[in-house]
Amino acid sequence: MGITTFAGKTAFVTGGASGIGLGIAKVLAARGAQVMIADLRPDHIEDALADFAGAGQSNQVATMLLDVTSRDAYAEAAAKMQADFGGVDILVNNAGVGLEGPVLGATYADYDFGFGVNLGGVINGFVSFLPQMVAHGRGGHILTTASLAAEVVMPGWMAIYAASKAAVCHYCEAVKPDLAKENIGVSILLPGPIKSNIHETGQNRPEHLRAASGFGDSEAQLARREVGDWWMEPETVGHMCAHGILADRTYIVTHGIFREQMEARSRAVLEATPAADFQMGDGDSI
Ligand SMILES: NC(=O)c1ccc[n+]([C@@H]2O[C@H](COP(=O)([O-])OP(=O)(O)OC[C@H]3O[C@@H](n4cnc5c(N)ncnc54)[C@H](O)[C@@H]3O)[C@@H](O)[C@H]2O)c1
Repeated sequence: MGITTFAGKTAFVTGGASGIGLGIAKVLAARGAQVMIADLRPDHIEDALADFAGAGQSNQVATMLLDVTSRDAYAEAAAKMQADFGGVDILVNNAGVGLEGPVLGATYADYDFGFGVNLGGVINGFVSFLPQMVAHGRGGHILTTASLAAEVVMPGWMAIYAASKAAVCHYCEAVKPDLAKENIGVSILLPGPIKSNIHETGQNRPEHLRAASGFGDSEAQLARREVGDWWMEPETVGHMCAHGILADRTYIVTHGIFREQMEARSRAVLEATPAADFQMGDGDSI
């Protein structure tokens, strides 16, 4: 069922050149997978390759420049993976941006940037790779990085981020049973604070969404944020993901620190919900 070993498997990791994606890529490579790192940033790719070389694992990894918001580039990437590797076994939809700023200042440029990468990039991953994962018949796994921000009520300055991540969660939950019939597992990574370069989000914003942004000041402030000592190491997250993939776990949750907020949100929804008033029949749908 799904993935039972990483040895000899091909993995495609978006945003794999930094932070969480790099942590996942390193663990999958160490466990025998051939990993394609697909990332927007040449500087991150260069650093990541140096890391792999330092660990004597250069032969386990290849890289490509990819903007996950480009459907054409994604289609080309999928065609290349099919031609060079016979298709991917593990897709890791991890690329994301830590978009934050005052909700009253948000412009369409901010919505387009946040939803474009965090949701659109994930959709592009599914649309580009699912056909080949079904067609090759080996089964596989799709791991998508969301955020614990999707499971709690976030402050307004994180509204776009939280909404983009919540959409990803609900999408993955909903498609999991259909993909299981194709022997493709689905997991959602829900990270808390992890050491990464997400404070560089402003650098990942495309030029055409920069001038009209209302988040310029917030992005400049985020760029100065220091990575906390107590935040989790990306490779620890990578190990959690490897276990989660093998067990086809739906949710891979790195931290328990938001339990109370998660419970409060679920309780508030349930408290607003009337008692079950009728049984749904076979033909009914919600
Ligand atoms: N670090 C955390 O505390 C944390 C917490 C919850 C969720 N996340 C999520 O984890 C994922 C990884 O983020 P991270 O914290 O490791 O940040 P990071 O910035 O270190 O890594 C993200 C990588 O994605 C790449 N990227 C950005 N936009 C891209 C695009 N359009 N196309 C391709 N690649 C692109 C960046 O170049 C970078 O290498 C994101 O989806 C983020 O939302 C992070």
